[in-house]
Amino acid sequence: MSQAAARVIARQVLSKPDSVLGLPTGETPIGMYETLVHMYDQGLIDFSRIVTFNLDEYYTLSPDHPNRYHRYMYEKLFMHVNVPEGNIHIPDGGVQDGEAECRRYDEELVRYGRINLQVLGIGTNGHIGFNEPGTAWGLTTHVSDLSPETREWEARSFAEDEPVPRRAITMGIKTIMNAEQIMLLASGEEKAKAVAAALFGPITPQVPASVLQLHPQLTVALDKAAEEKFP
Ligand code: PGA
Repeated sequence: MSQAAARVIARQVLSKPDSVLGLPTGETPIGMYETLVHMYDQGLIDFSRIVTFNLDEYYTLSPDHPNRYHRYMYEKLFMHVNVPEGNIHIPDGGVQDGEAECRRYDEELVRYGRINLQVLGIGTNGHIGFNEPGTAWGLTTHVSDLSPETREWEARSFAEDEPVPRRAITMGIKTIMNAEQIMLLASGEEKAKAVAAALFGPITPQVPASVLQLHPQLTVALDKAAEEKFP
């Protein structure tokens, strides 16, 4: 899955060196980023004109918190490749005024036109970004309340006695669907039900990822376990 996903990104970067990439965090894309760093080290891809927009960020977490997605992105990718600092966009989850941060993020995105390739993970409840079940599909970047299921999942990466954030800043479904091309990643049996519901079930805001059935350019990269529940 990681290699297939990295190849899709590499193809995009090679065919359009100034591409705008929408990037996810989480456990799922770790191998994809490792593969991209490896390709970069071998001189196969050049990120010097690439622009990136991250999907989401916890709101709020202190700037030095190890779980911030900001930190994840630098550790997994940006520290190792040549995306110019000024081309990197990640929602700031440390601000007082989350709504203002969402507007700023949307305005920044509009300056670049549209995302060429948006990469997504999927939650066990079918969320994409932090668009939780029931979220309106007309939203752009917004502050989202995390569902209990999502907070339980996220708790894996927080210390036992530490509260998981209740909210996040996330691109909306409208932002995601506006991308020219989308790639959905999933690995592991815990995701199999959500993947089957997203790809083969009814198209409904109760399964946010089911909206992807309406996208004209969707690529899906899965491991064997994640496709176990296919009809
Ligand atoms: P994960 O998160 O890659 O850590 O499972 C995916 C998601 O919630 O979108």
